[in-house]
Amino acid sequence: VVKLCCLGVLFLTLAYAIIVIDPTEVIVEDKLSMYEGSYLNRLWKKPPLEVFISIYVFNVTNPEAFMRGEERLRVQEIGPYVYQEFLEHRNSTFNPNGTLSFVPVRRQVFVPERSVGDPKEDRIMIPNIALLGVSSAAYRMSTFAAFAVAAALKPLGMAPILNITTHDLLWGYDDPLVRIASTLLPELIHFQKLGILDRMFDDGFDTVTINLPESVRNQQQDAEDTILDDDVSDDLAESLQEEYYHDMVLRSKTEEPIRDYSIDVWNGSPGLAHWGYVAKDHWDAEQR
Ligand SMILES: *[C@@H]1O[C@H](CO)[C@@H](O)[C@H](O)[C@H]1NC(C)=O
Ligand SMILES: *[C@@H]1O[C@H](CO)[C@@H](O)[C@H](O)[C@H]1NC(C)=O
Ligand SMILES: *[C@@H]1O[C@H](CO)[C@@H](O)[C@H](O)[C@H]1NC(C)=O
Ligand SMILES: *[C@@H]1O[C@H](CO)[C@@H](O)[C@H](O)[C@H]1NC(C)=O
Repeated sequence: VVKLCCLGVLFLTLAYAIIVIDPTEVIVEDKLSMYEGSYLNRLWKKPPLEVFISIYVFNVTNPEAFMRGEERLRVQEIGPYVYQEFLEHRNSTFNPNGTLSFVPVRRQVFVPERSVGDPKEDRIMIPNIALLGVSSAAYRMSTFAAFAVAAALKPLGMAPILNITTHDLLWGYDDPLVRIASTLLPELIHFQKLGILDRMFDDGFDTVTINLPESVRNQQQDAEDTILDDDVSDDLAESLQEEYYHDMVLRSKTEEPIRDYSIDVWNGSPGLAHWGYVAKDHWDAEQR
């Protein structure tokens, strides 16, 4: 009877606990929380997503006739060449200010089963991208400048239509123009080889810092608060609370709310220069 009674009490407590603490909420909260070692965190570090990139290239089929000016450029579509992308978030660090810093690393691996051929074997004829760029820039210049550009390009022996492998087109081929440009303008052209995917995926190693959601930030805050609470007198705690509240109200008036998982800084800068971001440090300083 005593055993049964104990069991009854246990169930009663359990039932009560389930009503007061919603178990699904606890589980969901735990699974979907971003903290070191959590389910979401492990998932996020190495997302098990199958991302495939299919690439179709255009092959010029009448290079000679086109160069002689007899025919219009004729192209043939070749593809797909499929690459699988693996994304990892490395070196993730939870910062004390409720943000998370990490380095996204992408890798592309060729998938032969899904592709039409071996990109390292297939040769294609493509218009010379670098030469086209220079020519179209020269076209807008004065006649004299255009002549100078044409004269400078001549000794390089550059063909207007290149005969290269698909792999080189995607991942980079040695281009005399690009090599020269990279020595002349190292700021602007910081790569030695010209490749389409190579340029697209040129992440380098970026350090990204994102804002974590309120709940995670509060968890961290709570952990700090509990340590404080023990040896702070009630009066002081109250005044601190008031100050804190005051700060929050003031901040919420002047600053827009922080969105969950929004990017705080990218490589230490709040914006991307090549996406038109202009540093506004002086503006920020005035606001503060
Ligand atoms: C591309 O076109 C050329 C002719 O211009 C041809 O010799 C070559 O085989 C074609 N490449 C592929 C991959 O079909
Ligand atoms: C990760 O951190 C280690 C040590 O701090 C560093 O050596 C490594 O280069 C970092 N990895 C990346 C991808 O930045
Ligand atoms: C939070 O800390 C990180 C690392 O110390 C820093 O890069 C970031 O700018 C900080 N963000 C805010 C909003 O203070
Ligand atoms: C492209 O170059 C390869 C090797 O140099 C050669 O075998 C092939 O005939 C060339 N293709 C064309 C269309 O000129």
